[in-house]
Amino acid sequence: MIPARARRVRGLPATMRGRLIAGLLVLLACACAAVGVASVLALGRSLHAGIDRQLAQAGGRFAASLEHSAAQPGKDRYAAGGDTRAQAAGTFGARVLNGTVTHAGVVSPRRDMDDVSAAGAVPTLSAEDRAKLAGLPADGRGRSVKLSWLGDYRLMAVPGADGDTLVTGLPLVEAEGIVHRLQAVEGVVFAVALVVTGVAGALWVGAALRPLRRVAATARDVTGLPLADGEVALPDGVSYTDPRTEVGQVGAAFNRMLEHVGDALARRHAVEQRLRTFAADAGHELRTPLAAIRGHAELARRHPGPVSPEVGRALDRIQAESVRMGRLVEDLLLLARLDAGRPLLRDEVDLTRLVLDATGDARVAGPDHRWRLDLPEEPVMVRGDADRLHQVLANLLDNARRHTPAGTTVLITVLVRAAAAADGTRVELSVTDDGPGFPEELAGEIFERFVRADQGRSRASGGTGLGLAIVRAVVAAHGGSAEAESRPGRTVFRILLPAPGPAPHP
Ligand SMILES: Nc1ncnc2c1ncn2[C@@H]1O[C@H](COP(=O)(O)OP(=O)(O)O)[C@@H](O)[C@H]1O
Ligand SMILES: [Mg+2]
Repeated sequence: MIPARARRVRGLPATMRGRLIAGLLVLLACACAAVGVASVLALGRSLHAGIDRQLAQAGGRFAASLEHSAAQPGKDRYAAGGDTRAQAAGTFGARVLNGTVTHAGVVSPRRDMDDVSAAGAVPTLSAEDRAKLAGLPADGRGRSVKLSWLGDYRLMAVPGADGDTLVTGLPLVEAEGIVHRLQAVEGVVFAVALVVTGVAGALWVGAALRPLRRVAATARDVTGLPLADGEVALPDGVSYTDPRTEVGQVGAAFNRMLEHVGDALARRHAVEQRLRTFAADAGHELRTPLAAIRGHAELARRHPGPVSPEVGRALDRIQAESVRMGRLVEDLLLLARLDAGRPLLRDEVDLTRLVLDATGDARVAGPDHRWRLDLPEEPVMVRGDADRLHQVLANLLDNARRHTPAGTTVLITVLVRAAAAADGTRVELSVTDDGPGFPEELAGEIFERFVRADQGRSRASGGTGLGLAIVRAVVAAHGGSAEAESRPGRTVFRILLPAPGPAPHP
């Protein structure tokens, strides 16, 4: 089994479709962000350049005119000041001498359109504003400055005629409005692009991956099939096998693999079939000579007249071993038949009756053991083959007698278990003994053929090593299951059979 190593990045979708879409959206969002930042920066820069050109054209004229007016900071804000002719509304001017702002004015934005000589106003400047104005280098370059009363301004300082510095400014509010509008438009466009890409991408990727999903579904169907044995009809391959696409290559490879697996399974089935036929034929062929050996040994043993003790012992051994071999051959034959899936009888069988009979036989065969029964009041019926089920019981009781010392108590219980709905009602038959049991590590394989806890003793006791294998095969053919657990002092063999319901399933 290949370990499923799912390397899962936390927060990332598990499906390929989800991952592709997530990757696409992240990339698109990055691209949008880059475009947005670049366009906003470029637009802002070009707008500033335009204002700077205007400022350069205006020169220090407005600021210089302030010197000859009453527009001194600190005085009445609305006092007329400066030469406001041909100045744009909001134009700001200031004169700085020796690091102090001596004059400041702003062209009133409330100026009427037709009043050419509109009044200038004196802005209120905070100490911070004054420091900013005084600190402007007189190099004729535009700079963005925030003034407390007027807001964001683009200011440019040039040297005046008498050692002073003349500062001219234009409001940035319009430029900022344009930039904000661009940002808003871009935000909406990018959001729509992301949503559309997400939806369309999900559909597109989903369509592209559909053949892959079909491959997965077919593979799932195959894993659901019982491939371990018997004849297997694999599903048809997938239809999408275009070698030009990755998914098509997967589909084609999958179909090829399915073909190979189908071939291998068919070949295995044929080999199994041959082996089964061989085992059945061999068993069948061995029956006759074995019966002949047994018969002749018996005949020789009954021969009147003196027979030396060695010959007598040899004849006894031949007889005992041929009996054992006969049992072995019968068991092998039965297993071969069960393996071949020969249909069993499906009669109503009284399990209680079977248990009583088998226990009666066991009492006779093992008088030194204590045989206990725990049966329900009502007879318990199962559907199946009475002879085979009798053999199951006989094998289990035989084991409880052969593999435990004299004086062991063996308890046989039958109970009807109304299990979970999916399971249906089940009949449970268990054989429990308080003997030494078998090693725990054998619990998983005790039902395998020729698995014995103590090879030597078991063989000497006349066992074939196939008793439990037959138990499991018969029970499985009845649609039931067998399990065993053992520790010293308590060994349990438990058989579960479906209760006779509407549809017993082999
Ligand atoms: N009741 C039991 N107590 C202890 N060991 C058991 C018992 N039943 C079965 N076993 C072990 O399981 C092995 C397999 O049993 P089985 O298939 O019937 O073969 P066999 O009885 O011919 O040896 C036995 O050899 C024995 O070691
Ligand atoms: Mg046995």
